[in-house]
Amino acid sequence: MKILVTGGAGFIGSNFVLYWMQNHPEDHLTNLDKLTYAGNLENLASVQNNPNYTFVKGDICDATLVNELVKDIDVIVHFAAESHVDRSIMDPSAFVKTNVLGTQVILDAARNNGNKRIHHVSTDEVFGSLGLGEQTAFNEQTPYNPHSPYSASKAGSDHLVRAYHDTYGLPITISNCSNNYGPYMFPEKLFPLAITNLIEGKKVPVYGDGMQVRDWLYVEDHCRAIDLILQKGKIGDTYCIGGLTEDIPNIVAIKKIIALLGKDETSIEYVKDRPGHDVRYAVDWSKIHNELGWAPQYDFDTYLERMVKWYQEHEQWWKDIKSGEYQKFYKKQYQQR
Ligand code: NAD
Ligand code: DAU
Repeated sequence: MKILVTGGAGFIGSNFVLYWMQNHPEDHLTNLDKLTYAGNLENLASVQNNPNYTFVKGDICDATLVNELVKDIDVIVHFAAESHVDRSIMDPSAFVKTNVLGTQVILDAARNNGNKRIHHVSTDEVFGSLGLGEQTAFNEQTPYNPHSPYSASKAGSDHLVRAYHDTYGLPITISNCSNNYGPYMFPEKLFPLAITNLIEGKKVPVYGDGMQVRDWLYVEDHCRAIDLILQKGKIGDTYCIGGLTEDIPNIVAIKKIIALLGKDETSIEYVKDRPGHDVRYAVDWSKIHNELGWAPQYDFDTYLERMVKWYQEHEQWWKDIKSGEYQKFYKKQYQQR
């Protein structure tokens, strides 16, 4: 099979490329990535010389390029996006461009080349926020109610993907997953920011009271879920994917990271809250479990320990990122609070 991955140099995309090359060595994988600040070819050093892997630097909004690439492939797995909520609050324009218009370009290319199969990777943030202390969880029937420019742009992309299925018969599947964590996670997101700041002897910025809840999905479990959807998923369907977690407030997760690194709670710094902050996410993943046999492999604590160890063992990877352009974003995001 020939597979086109978009955004394969980012956090989840690069984990997926490594996963796929290891588990499906007979397939040919093309990775189309613009290499924005979030794209990093170092993540893919171990496959760069594999004859079954091709990297193409380019923009998913470039219709000519995307059309050319899609001609020769069987399946598209679409990760490419602007993905950080705080950046979308600073400037939504790149989010609308890449996440909405870029997805439309991918869909048109799939349609113009014989209705190619596409799997669209989306987020549980499109559903909005659940109430703190509720027993509720998002599922495939939950109405869309996004609150940030990021989640609104992802919601727009999901609607387009479904519309191309309903209107043109494009063979699509969608997954809406919760917060991923694991290796190669860019240190602007909470967990890698906390881990790397603590290793550097800095404080961890906690928005508001830190009582917000996220559903944590280890990135390798996510990759296995996408693999199953590609193999056995029902065309036209959506699958919600989440982790093996009870409600874990951010502050509890941060205290676990502090303990794993042998630090103490003086490392916590409460800062101004995120505007429009969703207070609670939880995902009911019973559909993908019952229909495709998927479940997370390990619990939150096991994976968190694994992640912290990875960052301890890969200091150069994240120090290279944190020493560059990243510093401007960090200053803008945290020093005005
Ligand atoms: P990321 O920001 O780490 O990586 C995004 C990748 O896309 C980067 O390599 C970047 O260079 C590339 N890219 C951005 N704009 C592009 C463009 N115009 N053309 C080509 N490539 C472009 O993102 P991530 O965290 O790996 O997320 C991947 C996907 O999964 C996104 O669609 C995101 O919405 C979704 N998602 C992420 C999470 C999460 O917890 N990180 C959870 C749910 C869903
Ligand atoms: O739910 C899936 C989503 O998870 C994905 O669609 C997004 O691409 C991904 O970035 C992630 O969004 P979040 O906004 O949930 O992730 P983030 O790591 O930015 O924040 C996690 C929680 O931690 C959130 O409640 C905000 C809080 N936070 C975050 C940062 C960066 C802090 O308290 N301090 C911080 O410095």
